[in-house]
Amino acid sequence: MDIIQAIKERRSINFFETGKSISKEKIRELLELANLSPSSMNLQPWRVVVVMEAERKKILRKCAFDQPKAEEASAVLIMIADPKGVEENLGQVLDSWQALGFIKPEMRDTYTGMVKNLYDTEDSLKRKLFAVKNTALFAMNIMLAAKGLGLETHPMDGFDEDCLKKEFNIPADKTIPMLITVGYLRQGITLLPRAFRRKIEDFVRFE
Ligand SMILES: Cc1cc2nc3c(=O)[nH]c(=O)nc-3n(C[C@H](O)[C@H](O)[C@H](O)COP(=O)(O)O)c2cc1C
Repeated sequence: MDIIQAIKERRSINFFETGKSISKEKIRELLELANLSPSSMNLQPWRVVVVMEAERKKILRKCAFDQPKAEEASAVLIMIADPKGVEENLGQVLDSWQALGFIKPEMRDTYTGMVKNLYDTEDSLKRKLFAVKNTALFAMNIMLAAKGLGLETHPMDGFDEDCLKKEFNIPADKTIPMLITVGYLRQGITLLPRAFRRKIEDFVRFE
């Protein structure tokens, strides 16, 4: 499937084939593809909890205001934005840039200073926005890559974040921008037509 087709055909699916599992290998393939997403300074400040076990999905549904798809989909990805991604990943990013010849060793301090200036301290709003925006880009690529792998998805922010953090052991400093359900369209379901989109003229200004 080409990218244009994937964009056109992706829909938020409410009715998943229940009891149809996805292998861990398939989920891994999906995440490997999405992991090619761009990120600020390549810092990749995201984490994912993949919920596949029936009992765990039941709990997840409870945290997601009882939305059935949270339990009926084959897997649910808890998308986690990690404000500490800067401190945790910067070393690896610089090592790889140095190894690839993108930067010289003496430039490491300059980049470290630049990152601190751009993304502030780990408890700041700026840092939270940094983590959330990059995780949202990663999430979008998960949904498009899923189409390419023959899977359907549904992004969800209808959930109690505290409940998810408690039940799935996610540290308080993280943010959960969304869940993504992943699975297969239930047999016999016909999707309603795609809902309206605003006209380009309503939100774009050319200068
Ligand atoms: C971040 C995000 C959160 C969403 N949360 C929910 C949700 O909790 N429950 C739900 O039924 N739909 C949710 N949606 C789906 C939207 O309603 C859907 O994307 C929109 O109506 C457009 O439909 P389409 O994705 O099929 O084009 C969410 C979408 C996004 C991007």
